[in-house]
Amino acid sequence: MTAVPLDAFRAELETLRTAAATALSAAADAAALEAARVEFVGARSGRLKAIQKLLGGLAAADKPAGGKLFNDVKGEIAALLDAAQSRLAGGPAAESGGIDVTLPGEHFRLGHLHPLTQTIRRVQEIMGRLGFESVDGPEVEDQWHNFEALAIPAEHPARDPLDNFYLAVARGADPLLLRSQTSTVQIRVMENREPPLRIVSLGRVYRPDTADATHYPMFHQVEGLLIEPGTTMAHLKSVLRLFASSFLGGDVHVRFRPSFFPFTEPSVEVDMEWGGRWIEMGGAGMVDPAVLEAVGYDPDAVSGFAFGLGVERIAARRYGVADLRDFYRNDVRFLRQF
Ligand code: DAH
Repeated sequence: MTAVPLDAFRAELETLRTAAATALSAAADAAALEAARVEFVGARSGRLKAIQKLLGGLAAADKPAGGKLFNDVKGEIAALLDAAQSRLAGGPAAESGGIDVTLPGEHFRLGHLHPLTQTIRRVQEIMGRLGFESVDGPEVEDQWHNFEALAIPAEHPARDPLDNFYLAVARGADPLLLRSQTSTVQIRVMENREPPLRIVSLGRVYRPDTADATHYPMFHQVEGLLIEPGTTMAHLKSVLRLFASSFLGGDVHVRFRPSFFPFTEPSVEVDMEWGGRWIEMGGAGMVDPAVLEAVGYDPDAVSGFAFGLGVERIAARRYGVADLRDFYRNDVRFLRQF
């Protein structure tokens, strides 16, 4: 019988070593590992055993080298087996080195903007297309911007301490308060800029109202102001109607009811009809000459209109929300719907 060549023996060992390494590192559970163990190092018919038998067929001169090669591979496979055993014993965490890409992934729920923030951005976008620039004003205001410049005199009931959040720290000659309306921003902008102007300001306002389905001590307003030569109430109505039909979608009717605001003359309540229902959305009017004068404009030379709408109201109308408090409860079952 011719001897087994050493090179052939070495090639057999090499094939075995590669196959064992692949099978052992792929074993995903104890059963797979046991099957691999039996296949490679099983005492009776393991592949290592089969190669060990070839060892006897080597030429006498090759036996020491062959024996060493065999023992090296045998040791290596034993080490791989140990590693696989401890990997599986360590549980899934220990396995994380080999991420199983065939498992279904974990779904992360992406958040989104609060419905009121979405509403604010949408209003800004629509008004932007009508040429109205978005501006901001402070939420802590002084008497001048919240009342005086808006022609709301000291004895006016709107200034009652019970109807406003005056700041205790600022009690003094000119107490500060949390603004009760965004009309303050009209004043701040006109004081600093010359006409013509088209601005819109969306933000929080504060009034000590008891929270119920239609009131909340903090809410949001959209304030619009347009100062341009030849402005009339017809322009006001057109802008409100264009805005409302863009925001609500479809045809919207706007109705003006005579009203009074100290800072507009004439003044109106703004109602909107959409889907067969009329809702009061806010107030509007032509900017009162006294206000133009207060900010240093010449009332004989400039005119314009202003309006203020409730953000919660238009959002509630659009989304069919019956209780304004839902906007502030932070209940994800509510918020998820937007
Ligand atoms: N500031 C008023 C309020 O809070 C709403 C309002 C009415 C704003 C008429 C205006 C306006 O700009 O012209 O009730």
